Amino acid sequence: MALPPLHLEPKVHPPRGGRAAVAPTHRPVSVNVEADRLETEVSRRISPSSEMEARVARVRTELVDRVRTAADTRSSPLVRALVAGSAARGTYLSDRLDIDLFLLFPPDLPKDRLREEGLALGRAVLTQTETRYAEHPYLRGQFEGFSVDAVPGFAITDPSHPLSPVDRTPFHQEYLVARETPELVAQVRLAKQFFRSLGVYGSESRTEGFSGYLVELLVLRFGSLQGLLGAARAWRLPVRIETADRDPPRLPADVALILADPVDPHRNVATALSQRNLALLVLGAGAYLDHPTERWFEVRPVPPLAREEAIALVRERGTHVLVVSLPRPDLVDDTLYPQVRKAERALAEEVGRSGFEVIGSSSSVEPERVVVALEVGHAHRPAVRVQPGPPAGLDRVGQFLEKWTAPDAPVLQGPYVRPDGSLGVDTRRSDREVETVLRSALPRLSLGRDLTPPDPERVTVRALTAESDTPALSDALRELLDRRLPWLRSK
Ligand code: UTP
Ligand code: MN
Repeated sequence: MALPPLHLEPKVHPPRGGRAAVAPTHRPVSVNVEADRLETEVSRRISPSSEMEARVARVRTELVDRVRTAADTRSSPLVRALVAGSAARGTYLSDRLDIDLFLLFPPDLPKDRLREEGLALGRAVLTQTETRYAEHPYLRGQFEGFSVDAVPGFAITDPSHPLSPVDRTPFHQEYLVARETPELVAQVRLAKQFFRSLGVYGSESRTEGFSGYLVELLVLRFGSLQGLLGAARAWRLPVRIETADRDPPRLPADVALILADPVDPHRNVATALSQRNLALLVLGAGAYLDHPTERWFEVRPVPPLAREEAIALVRERGTHVLVVSLPRPDLVDDTLYPQVRKAERALAEEVGRSGFEVIGSSSSVEPERVVVALEVGHAHRPAVRVQPGPPAGLDRVGQFLEKWTAPDAPVLQGPYVRPDGSLGVDTRRSDREVETVLRSALPRLSLGRDLTPPDPERVTVRALTAESDTPALSDALRELLDRRLPWLRSK
């Protein structure tokens, strides 16, 4: 399981932002013959074979049996083991199957025991295990050729009061299984493949996209992929998917989509979804329905943009690109990525405040470092800075004049009177180069809790031309200089 974002979301959204208009949810009649034909074909390609389905079904039963036996042997307080998630519902994509095994313990078990017992049972049953942490520890391992995530949780009875972030899962399972027909299951797979091809599938912080559960609920709500896309193409952000009987939750300012969890109406299933990714879906929905082609279901890796190519592009654009490189802190992705985005924002804002025109920014992560790329209008800012003074006639004028007529004052021109009758002076800036300016501002910036290195020497700020080519840099450059909508890109 991707298992992000594992923190428990606040139950009630702060009453900032407004309220979203309820999204229209009418289901258009399917008359898209072209899309129908294409989807039938794609569906055939991505569906598991009946042989694979049988293997998955067998492994599900076996896993649960083996956990039970292991629990007996250890006298573990395990209440129940179950396979949930897409492997339990047949909604997985055959080339991306992971089996989500939930190990449920009594709600009064202390959290550290839960973790210990869960990991121990996982280790007893799986091979090649590896402990993973989101905010909740789990174990990834192998079982009869399948990749399995063993996730400990609490066996609660009320899903609106979970004790750990995964405790609602059995209720999700029950809710979906009771409603999904084989036709809907096929539509969910199609939808996941569509979302994946668009690059918006996965709710981990790195992606900020749609979780598998969210896609399933949406398909259920709109009846099919085309039903969903037909509605989505007219959505305006923020989107609230209407729930019949309850008060809409208040919105945080930057929420993209609100869909209440049917098993816990106070929880928004789409908290992890970014505005950008929802907008991509809205635009992609219309573009696909108008021109359905195979490409909408292909997963193509985005080719990185080589440094040389980027340098040529930047020359053509008449701009300047600088690269900030920070040592990578030892954090799990779900903690790291929000900090990286925060650092990117802070750096771009600082450069903007310092008198440069910021055209864009991007970031990327490699094993040893975090890279932020910034595009600015000019590599150098003017030597002149206009310093506004008080209006003529005020007492403060004396002070202003005294300060700016001192023999050592860094004045290029003035003091003078401005057209509105106030004083002004052109002062001289000593540092003009963007790299130098940003470097000296670094100690004052808040770059995210763990990204501010104890040793500032380990942060470098260099022009792109002084950087060497690395995969992470190429990714950042692609994001910075090649933002075209994916479906408009040439093949
Ligand atoms: P997964 O992320 O594996 O999703 O979480 P999935 O539904 O199996 O979809 P894919 O095909 O693998 O992408 C498994 C289940 O765990 C619950 C959801 O019920 C989900 O179906 N879950 C996951 C949570 O309750 N909270 C989370 O933060 C993540
Ligand atoms: Mn899964």
